[in-house]
Amino acid sequence: MGVPNLTIRSIEPEDYRATQALFTLPGVIRGTMQLPFPSIELWRQRLTELPENRRLLVACVDDKLVGNVGLSIPPNPRRRHVGEIGMAVHDDWCGRGIGTALLQTAIDLADRWLNLSRLELSVYVDNAPAIALYEKCGFKREGRFEAYAFRDGVYVDTWTMARVRI
Ligand SMILES: CC(C)(COP(=O)(O)OP(=O)(O)OC[C@H]1O[C@@H](n2cnc3c(N)ncnc32)[C@H](O)[C@@H]1OP(=O)(O)O)[C@@H](O)C(=O)NCCC(=O)NCCS
Repeated sequence: MGVPNLTIRSIEPEDYRATQALFTLPGVIRGTMQLPFPSIELWRQRLTELPENRRLLVACVDDKLVGNVGLSIPPNPRRRHVGEIGMAVHDDWCGRGIGTALLQTAIDLADRWLNLSRLELSVYVDNAPAIALYEKCGFKREGRFEAYAFRDGVYVDTWTMARVRI
């Protein structure tokens, strides 16, 4: 695999339009906890006021934004070793290794620069590609949350998963 001209960089405030467009895609909405119909203004504000404890990286092919990964450190001082992960790849670009590249970059940042020893996330139990990606990168299922979220008219369960390095 391998996508030519793939780069990963920090998100910038001017990425708000491309990020809003990413979060209107059916596959992205289905796989994440985001609501459909995000406004451009919502993403403009989010990217202008990105908190210090949140890193957001984007994947680009040439100049096109095709995915992102977020890494947030919880504010509780006793959870400063934790990183919460969320990610999305553009519907038209799934299955080409972009998710793997984004997650590996976030893991490297967590392991080698932020010294985070526990990375955690939640994933819908029917999201096979995401679960496969996380297990490939060392995440383990820790438990199942029943009816965790409401999605497209029905309740769905999630796995809580973590990658622990202590
Ligand atoms: C989950 C997601 C990030 C994966 O990104 P991606 O770019 O498609 O991932 P990759 O191409 O790097 O594939 C990663 C692994 O997923 C698995 N995978 C990919 N497509 C799959 C499919 N259709 N079915 C089952 N497993 C699949 C494979 O194990 C693959 O690793 P391999 O190629 O080394 O075997 C992407 O599908 C996505 O953003 N979906 C919508 C939003 C979402 O679900 N976000 C996750 C929220 S928890």
